[in-house]
Amino acid sequence: MTLKTTLIRSVQLSLTATVLATSFIGSVFAIEIDTLEVRPSLVEPRVSLPANLITVPVVNPGEFFVPPMVDDIPDDMTGDMIRFGRDIFVNTQVYGKRFAGNGLNCTSCHISEGRQPYGGPLWGAYPNFPILRNKSHRVVTYEERIQDCFKFSLDGIAPTVDAPEMVALVSYSKWLSTGAPVGVGLPGRGFATIKKTHDPSSDEGQIIYKAQCAICHGEDGKGKKNRNGIGYMFPPVWGGDSFNRAAGLSKTKTLAQFIKANMPLGAGYTLTDDEALDIAAYIWINFRPDDPRTTFMMNRLAPKKGGGG
Ligand code: HEC
Ligand code: HEC
Repeated sequence: MTLKTTLIRSVQLSLTATVLATSFIGSVFAIEIDTLEVRPSLVEPRVSLPANLITVPVVNPGEFFVPPMVDDIPDDMTGDMIRFGRDIFVNTQVYGKRFAGNGLNCTSCHISEGRQPYGGPLWGAYPNFPILRNKSHRVVTYEERIQDCFKFSLDGIAPTVDAPEMVALVSYSKWLSTGAPVGVGLPGRGFATIKKTHDPSSDEGQIIYKAQCAICHGEDGKGKKNRNGIGYMFPPVWGGDSFNRAAGLSKTKTLAQFIKANMPLGAGYTLTDDEALDIAAYIWINFRPDDPRTTFMMNRLAPKKGGGG
C-alpha cells in the first residue's frame, strides 16, 4: 500500500468511527432522504449499538436482550396486528394520527422502533406490567401506560383499551418481548442513569445545544419536517408540535437521562451527565404545550416539571 492509500484508508476508518450524526449532518444538505434509510437499521435486531456508529462503545455484544427480527413476524392475523402496531409506533403521524396532537412518533423517543437498550425499549417495559407508578400512586396496566404517552408525550388523546391502535401497540410490544423473562426488569430498560453533581445551568445548556443539537433540531428547537410535510425528519424538542408539560421528557432529569443515552443521535454517551442536565435545563425553559391536567393560569404561574408519559 502506498502512503497515499494508507492515508485514505485511515481517514476512511476514522470516518466510519465517526457517528451516524455525520451522515445525518451530511444528509441535511442532501435532498430527498428517507429517514428510515439513513438511520441505523430499524429492521434488524439490535444486540447493542453498532460499533461503527458510535464514538464511545458503551455496550458489549450479548449484554442485552435481543428482540426478534421484523421478518419473523408471523404471517397470520396476529402478525397483521403486530405489523399494524409497528406501523403506528414508527409512523404515528400516519397510522395513529387520530390520537396524536403533536408532530412526534413513538420512535421519536423510543429509539430504533423500541429496540434500543437505554432508548426506552418496549421489551424492557412490557414484561413488567402491571406496575406501581409513582405518578398516579397506583398499579397501572400496560395499556394505561401507553395512554399516558398519547396524552402527554404526543400531546393527544388516549385511545381506549379496546381501540384497534391500542391492541396493535400491545401486540407489537408483546412480540418484541418474545422470550423475555416476566417481571425481572432487564438491563437496558428506560434510559441512562445520571448523577446530578451541580445545579443545571440553562446558559451552559444553550451553548452545548447550539453546538451539538441545533444542526438537526434547529436553533429554534422546532426540528425539521419531512419533505412530504407529514411528520418530522428531526423532531421538535420544544414549541407547539413537541411533547407537553406533563410528559416524562418535560422533567429535566428524565430528559437528561434520555439525552445522555441517545443524543446526539447515534452518539449516545458522548456527553457528560452535567452537560446532559444543562441541555435539559435549556430545553425546559422554552415554550411547549400546556399540562392538560391543570388550568391555563397554573401552567403560566407554576409550570410542572413533568411526570412520565
Ligand atoms: C416525547 C417522547 C415520547 C414519545 C413520543 C412517546 N413516549 Fe413513551 N415514554 C417516554 C418517556 C420519557 C417514558 C418514561 C420514562 C420514565 O418514566 O422513566 C415513556 C414510557 C413509555 C412506556 C413504559 C416504559 C417502561 O419501561 O416502563 C411505554 C410502554 C411507552 N412509553 C409507550 C409509548 C408509545 C406506544 C408511544 C407512542 C404512542 C410513546 N410511548 C410515545 C417518552 C415518549
Ligand atoms: C444527527 C441529528 C441529530 C442530532 C445532532 C441530535 N438529534 Fe435529537 N433526535 C434526532 C432524531 C432523528 C430523533 C428522533 C429519533 C428517531 O426518529 O430515530 C431525535 C430525538 C430527540 C428527542 C426526543 C424527541 C423530541 O422531539 O423531543 C430529544 C429530546 C432530542 N432528540 C434531543 C437532542 C439533543 C439535546 C441533542 C444534542 C445533544 C440532539 N438531540 C442531537 C436527531 C438528532
